[in-house]
Amino acid sequence: MKDTRNSDDSLEKAIALAGEAIRGARSIVVLTGSGVSAESAIPTFREAHEALVDDEGNTMSALWAEFDPQTLATPEAFDRDPEMVTRWYDWRRLKCLEAEPNQGHLALAEIERRTRDRGGAFTLLTQNVDGLHQRAGSGRVIELHGSIMSWRCSRTGRRTEIPGDAFETYPPLHPETGDPLRPGVVWFGEALPPDAIDTAMHTLASCDLFVSIGTSSVVYPAAGFIHLAREAGARTIEVNPDATPISGAIDIALRGKSGEVLPVLVEKLGS
Ligand code: APR
Repeated sequence: MKDTRNSDDSLEKAIALAGEAIRGARSIVVLTGSGVSAESAIPTFREAHEALVDDEGNTMSALWAEFDPQTLATPEAFDRDPEMVTRWYDWRRLKCLEAEPNQGHLALAEIERRTRDRGGAFTLLTQNVDGLHQRAGSGRVIELHGSIMSWRCSRTGRRTEIPGDAFETYPPLHPETGDPLRPGVVWFGEALPPDAIDTAMHTLASCDLFVSIGTSSVVYPAAGFIHLAREAGARTIEVNPDATPISGAIDIALRGKSGEVLPVLVEKLGS
């Protein structure tokens, strides 16, 4: 297998190779993580804590300073302190609503369109809960970790409409059941939505190109998807400014920001 890990000066060449791989692929699976939304000013998951502490103008910062988001993302945290957890997720939800899709999101929607136009298959598996891929025009988005825009009763699972601005109480209450609402995201220790994982397994088993973008590849099962794709014989591309635990299994590494690299990649695809 050809190793094309690039230094900065070979990025252009690696992008050209990636363009060829995309043009020639029959079935593409893209996996995204929070790095894709970093250029939309949504802090990556593991940076969120730092961003909150640094942001002195933000009234939430004092409240959040002592909390690690990773410890808030559990059912146990919600059971222990539903007010704190729902405040945190509502703060994130409003940030996501304010954000706009960036050039990376838009480029992925364009790659999907072009792949479909030439009869290829394209599936976007995302660990992001922010809805920005859909807003950028991506058609087939599988939300592996759910959505921060969809909340449900913590007891019955019944979904309900939520306001476009902040909730009035924390935790917010389901209008019919009166029980606390929880965000429709997958917390640590919870199972992924069965439909999403089924689609992921199915498409990975038959893909011939796998592209990992903006994920640290430390959270399973998504971190293991590359190995399933390789077992299916797929070539692999990674877009990330930094190396990750999967970088050793990558054929073409594009070391840069997705909002910068992906638009250049689209140019290489031609019209
Ligand atoms: N373009 C591309 N990649 C970027 C950019 C950028 N502009 N900025 C940062 N990155 C990369 C970082 O180098 C890092 O590898 O994005 C990755 C972000 O990693 P994490 O913060 O760990 O986010 P993610 O991989 O999405 O986390 C996975 O963990 O806690 C769970 O549910 C949460 O979905 C999340 C999952």
